[in-house]
Amino acid sequence: MGTVILGIESSCDDTSAAVMRDRELLSNVVATQDVHIQYGGVVPELASRAHQQNIVPVVDRALKLAGISRDQIDAVAFTRGPGLMGSLLVGTSFTKGFTAALGIPMIEVNHLQAHILVHFIQSEKGAERVPEFPFLCLLVSGGHSQLVVVKDPYEMEIIGRTIDDAAGEAFDKCAKLLGLPYPGGPHLDRLASEGDPHKFTFNKPRLQGFDYSFSGLKTSFLYFLRDRLKENPAFVEQHKADLAASLQKTIVDILMNKLRRAATTKGINQIALAGGVSANSALRSAIVQEAGKQNWDIFIPPLSYTTDNAAMIAITGYYRFLKGEFASEDIAPMAKMYF
Ligand code: KG4
Ligand code: ZN
Repeated sequence: MGTVILGIESSCDDTSAAVMRDRELLSNVVATQDVHIQYGGVVPELASRAHQQNIVPVVDRALKLAGISRDQIDAVAFTRGPGLMGSLLVGTSFTKGFTAALGIPMIEVNHLQAHILVHFIQSEKGAERVPEFPFLCLLVSGGHSQLVVVKDPYEMEIIGRTIDDAAGEAFDKCAKLLGLPYPGGPHLDRLASEGDPHKFTFNKPRLQGFDYSFSGLKTSFLYFLRDRLKENPAFVEQHKADLAASLQKTIVDILMNKLRRAATTKGINQIALAGGVSANSALRSAIVQEAGKQNWDIFIPPLSYTTDNAAMIAITGYYRFLKGEFASEDIAPMAKMYF
């Protein structure tokens, strides 16, 4: 029969539910909240209201698509944090009510660990290749940029993190300066494919160790545009694609430099990408190129597992289920959560 886990994700602006039998994904439903587009960023109060509206239909649909009835679910895994408190509260409260009604356990999941464990999800296509432990993961999302040594599904060590903005934030904020809609990352990626990545150069941070910094790049991009616009008010319009491509190249170079250094220092050749920014086409090709040079064994998630989804919550919940790591019914979500 196997273990059936329902996963619930509501940490930011995507409401998602997934059903998994052991490591096999049966369904993964994501409701993206378009309400934020008009504001150019996520409005926390609107996000929690939309989660409240979406959560029951999304869970219902995930169960139907999986062909699983409520009494077949063994446990519910939910995102405890990190994320927006009002958003997390919706998933946590739903899980408490649902599990209490069914008399089954609930499992808390750290959203960031979950991004990393997508590499262990088995999709319908059958058994995929999985990374060997320990592997090195570059986790890049809207809120985090980290280099993580993954020792097993339970033990992960963060060896580098951003000291200011995340890579996704850099993409989104610079995309906004180019007049692209929110979230800017995917729009900038598309625009960059028509531009010359060597046309403009932007300053890269000089940080020791494996930590990242992106706020300086964002500021230098802003000042660069401001100065050019003074001379030519049509500068952005005339050079949009080249600006996107050059900025994207700078972000990818920054990410890849530290990844390369971390892999060499730690002597690890199993390298994985995870998080929303791992959908970026330039980052995906850069890691493929580097793999050839460095003899890396690389793991790039399918696009549907890069941005927020509940399949990643379900797989993490499955591993915790195997160890009997259940949450108590008085558990509260955590906006900041470490591992
Ligand atoms: O992991 P995620 O869905 O949410 C967080 O946990 O933050 O990541 C969202 C981030 C956003 O900043 C979005 O712009 C970025 O991932 N992103 C991309 C691309 N697709 C999503 N950034 C660059 N290129 C993309 N193709
Ligand atoms: Zn995320």
